[in-house]
Amino acid sequence: MGLKQSYTLFAPIYDLLIAAASEAVRAENLKSLHDPDPQGLEVLIAGIGSGLDIPHLPAGHLYTGIDLTPAMLDRARLRAAGRNDIELHEGDVMALPYADEQFDIVVMHLILAVVPQPQQALREASRVLRPGGRILLLDKFLRPGARAPLRRTLNLFSRHIATRTDVVFEEVLKCCPGLNVQSDQAALLGGWFRRLELRKEEPPVTP
Ligand SMILES: C[S@@+](CC[C@H](N)C(=O)[O-])C[C@H]1O[C@@H](n2cnc3c(N)ncnc32)[C@H](O)[C@@H]1O
Repeated sequence: MGLKQSYTLFAPIYDLLIAAASEAVRAENLKSLHDPDPQGLEVLIAGIGSGLDIPHLPAGHLYTGIDLTPAMLDRARLRAAGRNDIELHEGDVMALPYADEQFDIVVMHLILAVVPQPQQALREASRVLRPGGRILLLDKFLRPGARAPLRRTLNLFSRHIATRTDVVFEEVLKCCPGLNVQSDQAALLGGWFRRLELRKEEPPVTP
């Protein structure tokens, strides 16, 4: 079974399983969007799923959400009802259908460690991000060098139906030397889940 099929099956119960446990950490990770200055940012929510981030997206910016699974997007559409600042698209975060440097911020909540090729997903996020823009990440990552036999064994099954559990963020980041870690904080389950903010380097100013 592929991820699209399994998330089609998960869609009716996804919120029951994930919403309460992730609520506070989502709010914290998206807090910077509430800064009054600047307004009018273009924000991409990569792998928006059922739209659990939507209640945390303040008015004043333009939001684009993309996800592979129509059944998850149907739920996101319900959450976005009545808002004219959110567009939702079906698509693949490893091949984003957006222009280079289109977005000011890319939100990646529970997606980088889900996809089969996290480096490709991060490369794409970096491509569509303007220089100086930020990626707001939340996901589960192994620490470099961690043996983690349980999570590596679980990964043999879970990667096909829900998520990878063997992703080392520091390995993924090697794909994108222009992205710099601004903050890295333990979020849930003893630091297995982390909140990270990455910033895309700006080109040097030539005199
Ligand atoms: C664990 S859920 C996270 C959803 C949401 N970001 C959240 O925080 O609740 C993973 C989501 O990634 C989507 N997904 C999996 N592979 C994808 C891909 N290659 N491109 C876009 N979305 C994908 C699934 O359909 C699912 O909605």
